[in-house]
Amino acid sequence: MKILMSDDKLYIVLMGLPARGKSTLAVRLRDAFRRDGIATRIFNNGNLRRIYRPLAETSSAEFYSPNNAAAVELRKTFARMNMERAKAYLRNAGQVAILDATNAGRERRAMLEAYLDDHPLLFIECVNDDADILALSIREKTKLPEFNHLEGAAAREEFLKRIAYYRMIYCPLGSERNYVRLESLQNRILEEKHTDAIGLYVQLRDYLVTDEVKNLFLIRHTQTEYNLEDRIGGDPDLTVRGRDQAEALGQFFSTKKISYIFTSSKLRTRKTAEAIAARQADCRVIALKEFDEIHAGVCEGMTYAEIERHLPQIFREREAHKYDYVYPEGESYALMKTRVEAGIKKSFFLNRRSNNIMIVGHQAVNRMILSHFLYRREEDVPYIYVPQDRFYHIVSTQHKKLFELKRYD
Ligand code: F6P
Repeated sequence: MKILMSDDKLYIVLMGLPARGKSTLAVRLRDAFRRDGIATRIFNNGNLRRIYRPLAETSSAEFYSPNNAAAVELRKTFARMNMERAKAYLRNAGQVAILDATNAGRERRAMLEAYLDDHPLLFIECVNDDADILALSIREKTKLPEFNHLEGAAAREEFLKRIAYYRMIYCPLGSERNYVRLESLQNRILEEKHTDAIGLYVQLRDYLVTDEVKNLFLIRHTQTEYNLEDRIGGDPDLTVRGRDQAEALGQFFSTKKISYIFTSSKLRTRKTAEAIAARQADCRVIALKEFDEIHAGVCEGMTYAEIERHLPQIFREREAHKYDYVYPEGESYALMKTRVEAGIKKSFFLNRRSNNIMIVGHQAVNRMILSHFLYRREEDVPYIYVPQDRFYHIVSTQHKKLFELKRYD
């Protein structure tokens, strides 16, 4: 834990369009600061809005129209309330005040900078335009109580209209004194500017870019017809034994809370995941093509013995340098790396509010995922052990590292 100077106080003002991960970032930063003994509190404008105004009013897109003068004034009032509360907090024992709101326009941000002038103020813009992520985030938002009175499609439409209104006044950070523009899916800093000395910045930067994995359960799909014959690729179904194994996995994880299970687009991973999800109270299976098994090109659907017999050159060359070998019309391990890593980022982003994350993948894909968390020389990656009767449990945080292969039946 770091020893702080008494004047190490900071306002963090989040900024970004709705559904870009601001509130999740606020919680992540608050928890990280608190863990290091730094008194931190979040001041969220949306919460005030929902307390002081009827939900039917605040869920309506018109409440966010820049042309709705009365609503603009109301939203400004909530922003002022939070500014005052944040200032009072830092005047007392608080060390970090996180102001969580859209803060899309320059005018609002100038007001914040002018009023919160007793300690450094850092803006953090959350940028994220990935279409899949946005669609799923909006789906989550519209499940909030605020939208209870609207049915799915209508709620979505209101939310999209709300985003469009914010876009009308949206102006990226630029003229502010201190800021970070963060790609919130990748936890990557796009741009930063510092005018004031910010004592807590080194720590904060660390929290921003560090990927933490609380509990990753990495499972390989259970037995398929192809596995019985040593046949590769394709889209085979589970065998009876595979279905039993999937049931056993469901039983094993029934005492743990799993909110999402990420799979590939293939039947065998989805079927395995569905058996697990069936024993959860509220769990969604999300198929990501990024987790599809290595594409074996001209060898798809063949057994290893057939490849050796009919395509001996391919067999030998792949044996000689497996990590880099590209199947004709297919992929290599090296080529899969970028897409699998994109899948890891996507699934972690979507799962961000829960401590347990589950991925049901394939042999080669799981090897790539494992190598992301566990240092392995590239040439060893294609030989990592990925059995079907066990799963990997991985924890990788600043305070704890754990890597275990466990039985489930
Ligand atoms: O055998 C199952 C499988 O998932 C195949 O679909 C895939 O081609 C193979 O494993 C990958 O493992 P390896 O790189 O060892 O051939």
